[in-house]
Amino acid sequence: MAEKAKIAVFISGEGTNMAALVYASRMPESPYEVVLVASNDPEAAGLNLAAAEGIATFACLHKGMTREAHDAAMEAAVLEAGADHIALAGYMRILSDGFVERWAGRMLNIHPSLLPLYKGLDTHARAIAAGDSHGGASVHLVTPELDAGEVLAQIAVPIAPGDTPETLAARVKLAEHQLYPRALADYVSRWQDPVALLARVRALALALPETDEKVSHGSPAFRVGGEKSGKFFAYFADQHHGSPYIACLVRTGSMDELLALVEDQPEVYFKPAYYGASGWVGIILNRPGVDWDAVAAWLERSWRGAAPKRLTRLLDIADEF
Ligand code: GAR
Repeated sequence: MAEKAKIAVFISGEGTNMAALVYASRMPESPYEVVLVASNDPEAAGLNLAAAEGIATFACLHKGMTREAHDAAMEAAVLEAGADHIALAGYMRILSDGFVERWAGRMLNIHPSLLPLYKGLDTHARAIAAGDSHGGASVHLVTPELDAGEVLAQIAVPIAPGDTPETLAARVKLAEHQLYPRALADYVSRWQDPVALLARVRALALALPETDEKVSHGSPAFRVGGEKSGKFFAYFADQHHGSPYIACLVRTGSMDELLALVEDQPEVYFKPAYYGASGWVGIILNRPGVDWDAVAAWLERSWRGAAPKRLTRLLDIADEF
């Protein structure tokens, strides 16, 4: 199994969502582990539970500190614990833009409403007052704008006659405890999912001029130049010929270049079976931290090598502007 993602959980209060994340991580096959529980409140009840579970804890009271200084203290603890993602779980402080930007794509939050409804506070009272049939919860990526990042998963919870904000909150929490571990697990394993990886390669390949997709030797492959005279410039290979890699194959300039890439960055490149012999290199996609801009650049270069002159000229002219 691939190495597990390392999660720092930030809490301010009871920490029941943190507990749900921790216990889900103890199930077999969990793709993540919780390496730190940190709080802005040394009295947060969840810290005791985390300590009892043998998880590193950190607390730093925010009173009297600037937002930046407090965030820096929290971040130092995260780095010290070796975390690669942060899960906000009832962390009731707004984080500075700099902090949020540094963790972009690696920080999730759970919010007790069906976003985009009811950002901010008092979500349950607002849903009841509006006469909504359902409340719920959302897991989303954290961006500088409050509760506005991409929604990864949601769960709806009916509002029952006589519900108060408290009774609804308690029921939503039960749903949150199911939702958050699943959403976090899916998110940190997305780079192992061939369907998601193919979708990303496809979007980049088909964004290049006059391209189409065709199955070649059982693999999705991308051509340029049309139905009759089209030439392949990329293949998507899902663990072919016993290879452990899900990869995008693109054409290098020469065997020397291919071998140098594989030697210098064996975590990024490999020489694929069959195609390697004619200068195609495999870019490994089932690993954390793929540089998708680099994949896009490779696709464009490989496309240029296969495209007719009339098309590459067009792209050159466009590049000049
Ligand atoms: C949860 O319901 C969570 O959605 C909410 O606080 C509660 C924390 O409970 N978060 C927010 O309101 C964020 N704006 P917990 O400490 O028991 O996990």
